[in-house]
Amino acid sequence: MPDSHTVIDHPLVQHKLSHLRAADTPPHLFRQLVREIGQLMAYEVLRDLPLTNTAIETPLTAMQAPVIDGKKPALVSILRAGNGLLDGFLDIVPLARVGHIGMRRDPDTLQAEEYYLKLPCALGDRLTIVVDPMLATANTANAALARLKAAGASRIKLSSILAAPEGISALRAAHPDVELYVGCVDDHLNDHGYIVPGLGDAGDRIYGT
Ligand code: URA
Repeated sequence: MPDSHTVIDHPLVQHKLSHLRAADTPPHLFRQLVREIGQLMAYEVLRDLPLTNTAIETPLTAMQAPVIDGKKPALVSILRAGNGLLDGFLDIVPLARVGHIGMRRDPDTLQAEEYYLKLPCALGDRLTIVVDPMLATANTANAALARLKAAGASRIKLSSILAAPEGISALRAAHPDVELYVGCVDDHLNDHGYIVPGLGDAGDRIYGT
């Protein structure tokens, strides 16, 4: 059973997150910062990738050198804000396979409904990393994770820049097997399901809508 969650609190993540939070950060900079945080998070989320040795020749001698073992990981973006984080992960693991899942959040009930799904094959043989910048109520993430498990995913990590304590509890209750990585755990959710202090609507801020 994984620990409750891992906070990736590297000073660079904290610094970039402060700029993300600032209301006057413009969309082009916001998007760039989400991507850079994705790169830094990917480094940590992928820390336990399995290695195997392969024979290579350096200019001086033959040696057994470590390379990543097994099938390529699957990155699954929860649309649309997940795509911002996905870009950063892909910078670090460009060979990863990519899936997209569209989950719409009903503004009144805050419940999630699926409107799009396209996933890589053989999910059961891959480490599956779900990216969604905001873990708020966890309704969307929980529905997406259930859908991925139904599609065969067995080892899943979820990576979010910001999480609310309520979202972490809800995620843990529904998917105790999923390893959670966050940049910061904020104070609470407001009545509209926004994380406080938060950064606002991640999708709107990434795309300037
Ligand atoms: N989704 C967002 O984009 N922001 C929040 O604060 C909560 C959910």
